[in-house]
Amino acid sequence: MFEQGIGGAGVPADTMPTGLLTGNRTIDLEHQELFAALKAARTICLDLKTYSSCAGCGEARHQQCEQALVDVLGNVLSFVLDHFKTEESIMRDSLLMMIDRELCQVHMEDHAGISAMVERMVRELDSTQTVSLVRELDQLLTRWVAQHIATHDVALVNWIEREDSALRTSF
Ligand SMILES: [Fe+2]
Ligand SMILES: [Fe+2]
Repeated sequence: MFEQGIGGAGVPADTMPTGLLTGNRTIDLEHQELFAALKAARTICLDLKTYSSCAGCGEARHQQCEQALVDVLGNVLSFVLDHFKTEESIMRDSLLMMIDRELCQVHMEDHAGISAMVERMVRELDSTQTVSLVRELDQLLTRWVAQHIATHDVALVNWIEREDSALRTSF
C-alpha cells in the first residue's frame, strides 16, 4: 500500500501515518523532517503525475525546478547524515550492536544504501531532467517511510523502549 510514489496511492505527505510512529520522541521528531522533505519534493514539478519529461517547460521553469530540487536534496542529505548517526549511536549505546549485530548490520546497510542514492541524485542534477529525479526522490522517500521505518527503526525502538532498557528515558 505504501510502496508507490506520487503516481499511486502511496504515503500521504501531509501527516505521519500513526502506524509509522515508532514511539520514540527523538526518532519520531526527526522522521517528521523526512515527511516535510517528501511534501516539498511533491510540490516542485507543475504536474508530477503526468509529465514524463521537462521538455514542455521553458528555461526559466527549468531553473526554478532545479533550484527547488537542489534545496530539497540538500535538506535530505543533511537530514540523512544526522539522522542515521543518531540511530547508529543508539544501536551502540543501547548495546543492541553487541546483542544482535546482524540486525544492526542490515539496518546500517539500508542507511548506507539510502545515503548513496541521495548522493547519486545530487551528482545527476540536470535542469532538463528534474521531473525524473523528483519522481525518483519521491519513490525513495516513500519506500523509506513504508519499509525502513516500519521494520528497522521500529525494531530498534522496541529494543530501547523495553522494560529493562537503561536507555528507556534517555532519548
Ligand atoms: Fe534507520
Ligand atoms: Fe529513521
